[in-house]
This record gives sequence, C-alpha cells and structure tokens, in this order.
Amino acid sequence: MTVTPAPVPPSCWWREAVCYEIHPRAFADGNADGVGDLPGATARLEHLAGLGVDAVWITPFYPSPLADGGYDIADHTGVAADLGTAADFAALVTKAHTLGLKVLVDVVPNHTSHRHPWFRAALAAGPRSAARERYLFRDGRGEKGELPPNDWQSAFGGPAWTRIDEADGLPGQWYLHLHAPEQPDLNWRNTEVPAEFERILRHWLDQGVDGFRVDVAHTLFKAEGLPDAGPGQHQDVHRNHLMPYYDQEELHPQFRRWRALLDNHPAPAGAVPPHERVMVAEAGVFDRERLARYVAPGEMQQIFNFAFLESAWDGPAMRDVIDRSVQAMSAVGAPVTWVLSSHDAVRPVTRYGGGPLGERRARAAALLMLALPGAAYVYQGEELGLPQAHVPDDRIRDPLWERSGHRVRGRDGSRVPLPWAGGVPPYGFSDADPDSCWLPQPPGWAALTVAAQRDDASSMFTLYRAALHLRRAHPPMRTGLHLQGPASGEWFAFDRSAGLRCLVNFGARPVRLDDRARVLLSSAPLDGRDVPQDTTVWIVLEEYPQ
Ligand code: GLC
Repeated sequence: MTVTPAPVPPSCWWREAVCYEIHPRAFADGNADGVGDLPGATARLEHLAGLGVDAVWITPFYPSPLADGGYDIADHTGVAADLGTAADFAALVTKAHTLGLKVLVDVVPNHTSHRHPWFRAALAAGPRSAARERYLFRDGRGEKGELPPNDWQSAFGGPAWTRIDEADGLPGQWYLHLHAPEQPDLNWRNTEVPAEFERILRHWLDQGVDGFRVDVAHTLFKAEGLPDAGPGQHQDVHRNHLMPYYDQEELHPQFRRWRALLDNHPAPAGAVPPHERVMVAEAGVFDRERLARYVAPGEMQQIFNFAFLESAWDGPAMRDVIDRSVQAMSAVGAPVTWVLSSHDAVRPVTRYGGGPLGERRARAAALLMLALPGAAYVYQGEELGLPQAHVPDDRIRDPLWERSGHRVRGRDGSRVPLPWAGGVPPYGFSDADPDSCWLPQPPGWAALTVAAQRDDASSMFTLYRAALHLRRAHPPMRTGLHLQGPASGEWFAFDRSAGLRCLVNFGARPVRLDDRARVLLSSAPLDGRDVPQDTTVWIVLEEYPQ
C-alpha cells in the first residue's frame, strides 16, 4: 500500500520528533530522599540530549495524594513538594531548551483528586449546589437511593460510582469516577470546567512548555442522561468507542478550541523557533477512523498508536497494524505516533516473551519503530531494555491491585526507579537507602545500568543511541510508506529515505541481503549476509561500481 502525505511546513518539529517519557519519581533523585524529582531530571538532561531524543514529556509532577501515581491532581498548576518547586520546573525548561529539547507536560482534564479544593467544596455544599455541578453527582437508584445511578464500571475495576455521606451523616448522593474513587470525574458540560482548563493550559504555556500530553482524552464528555452501558464493559478495547462514557462528539469542538488556544497564545519571551505547541492524545480508542478524528486538521497533532504497542510480535499482525495506522492517519494529514512502551504498559522485553527471546525481539522492535515515518515516544528504561520488575505485594502502589481484590498486580513493574550505575540497588538512582526508595528495584540489574551499557557496543542503550542519531541523518521521504515482502508476512522491508531501508525478519527462514546492501545497524548479529529470525537491519543500497 502506498499513501502520499500532504507537504509539511518546516515549523512542524513534532512530526518526526522522538519524545522521551520521564516518570519523575522513578527517574533520578536529586535530594537523596529516595524519590526521583525535578532537579534530578534536570541534572540528567545532557544524557538524554546525548542519547539523541528531541523532546521530553514529564508525567504529572503536580501536588497529589498519589492514589494513582500522580494522575489524581489536587492542584493542576502547582509542583508537588517531594518533586521540587516552581523554580525547579523553570530551571528544567530552561536547561532543556538550551540543549535543544522540547518539553511536554501532562494535562489531566477528566478528573481531579478527591482532595482538590473543588471536590472538597462539592462535598460541603450539598446536593444540587453549583459546587456539585462541577462534578457528576447523582441521586442513587432504588427506593432509598441505595443503588448506583447507572451500571458504569470503573476502568480500574468495580463500580464507577461511590456514595458519600451528606452533612447530616446519612448516605446521600453518588459521584462518578471512571478510575479510582480518589479521582472524581469533572462535568465538562459545566462551563466552569473548560474555563478552568484554559487557565491551566495558559499557565503552563507561560512557563515555556512546548505542548501537552492529554490524559484519557476520550473520556471528558459523557452521553447526555448517563445511559447504562450494558454488559462486558472494559472487556474488549475494540468496543471502547461504543461506550456512553467514551469518544463522545463534544470532544472534538473542545479540542479545536484548545488547539486555537495553543496556536494563538503568545510565545514566551526569548522562545526559540520553531515554537509551535503540540498536543498528543492518550485515547483508548481502537477504531482507527475514530482515532484519526482526534488529529484531524485543527485538532491535536498527535495521538498515541496503542495498536502498535498491543500487537503481538508477529509479521502479518505488525504489517497489518502499520499499514492500517499509516492509512488512517494519512487520510487526515497526521503522522503516526509510534509507541512501544509507557508507564501503563508491560515492558516490551517481557511482553515479547521475556529473557533472551524478549530482548532480541525488543531490539528488533525498537529498530522497526525508529525507522517508521512519524513521531515516536520512548519510555524511560526502554532504551536500557529493562524487563518488567516484580514488585512485592506490600510495596505495590497501583490502585489496580486493591480495586481488583489483589488479582491484578498493576503497572508498578514498569515504574521502578531507573538503574544508572553500580552493582546493587538503588543503582545510582538515589543516595538514599534502597529500602526507602520510591519502589524497590530488583537485584540483578547491574548489567542493565546506564553506566554498564554506555560503552558496550552490543547493549540496548548503544542500539537506541545509534538508531536515534542515524534517524536524524535520514529524515523520511515524503512519498509515503510502501511495505514490501512476501504475502505470508514472514518479513517486510520499507524505504525510510532514499538512503535507508529497514528490513524486519520475523520468520524462522533467514532473509538474504542484496549484494548491494551495506548494513548500517542491526538489532542482532547477521549470519554472513543472512538476516536471522527476530532481527531488524537498517541498510543502504549502494550502486554497483560502473
Ligand atoms: C492515563 C494514565 C494512567 C492513569 C489514567 C487515569 O491512562 O496514563 O497512568 O492511571 O490515565 O488518570
């Protein structure tokens, strides 16, 4: 399949950018309290610039009771005391910009923390008050209001409604929370809510940020009347867009207003062009045509392509995902935003089979992702090939653990502190005692630290660094993506640019390289001119001598 994207203005720095996700509490600890923080991240920015990324996205660093890893926000324009100060954030942005790195932050518009002043006011103010109208409070069903207002289920398990006690001490209304009970959903049909988020966006733009990752962007509006959703909720992500709490029409005019705000908000003094500000949607929508609507002209610029992350390591499946994603995004003139990893996902090494097999496939997947045209997001530790860590029961922080009655361990295994150097925990992450660190790191990570990998030609880190630098030297052609290979899908190849071809072999049969091919980078050693199974190569095709 060949598609021809529209011409791209040069100010669109984000179309091909590689953005590195920093989960700050687990990245680097600057003050020896065992928790990663903003000064710790700032001190490592040269390292990230040297790795070759173009931007950093910092997940929520706002004041939060941490019921959901910081995605339960008590003050959307503040800085959490354990992570630093407003001045620390300003220093991070200044240094990033000096190094040529863009900075993205999260905006979390679907919910606040239950400790947010608005929610406290709503509890105090009583039923049908203006303060309650900012959230989704409803009377219960049943004779005494003892049943939830509808059948909606939380994405974290259990009902999406919690009943409160009113001022008289008696059980009263219920409030909606699509995630944890500590994350009450806002009522986006109340004009105070969009107005407040415009203020929040402007605040961070004034701090010099280059864009926003929009958390659960598909959930802000709920269908009028809050109708029942029916059985099987959250069981098949491919049905998400059919749920009355996801993917509602009203989202699109709202995001067009945000885009206009970003485009028109004055650039901070001294901003280095190109300073077009970007929004990337995190939206659990899997119907590709519906997904493309979030990045139609005038809306957001990027949307994470979770179908790529979710795909099994399988030639036909990967080929299909790539083809369909490029097709859907190209139809609206948007680049695909490739992603293999995040603070919510099982680490690729583990997902692809674990051990040496998982490592080998994760290396091949990385070279595939970084050759594809479009943007890419790399989650901290992905460049080190970290496996999913086992976090002991008594240290688990993820609300999924409690909400699932201890059946789902949750996402902490991809959120343990990054190993920087040394032979034992905390591996240079912190000067604190390892037992007081944010989450426990496993023993046996000495060979995975940045220091151990930096000068090792065969390491995952070296592979990422080499790929990121080569990628910059070979910007993709604007002629579309044409995947070539056998119909069986055992392998496929595509030309990123006139000078760089990428070939991925998933199958057991080796693929013989053309005599003209000069190998630039390979995810695993080649067997002579044969590309073995689970290997990606980047090659240039040299002309035969005349
Ligand atoms: C997003 C975040 C996730 C969080 C959820 C609720 O999916 O990535 O970590 O739990 O939103 O805010």
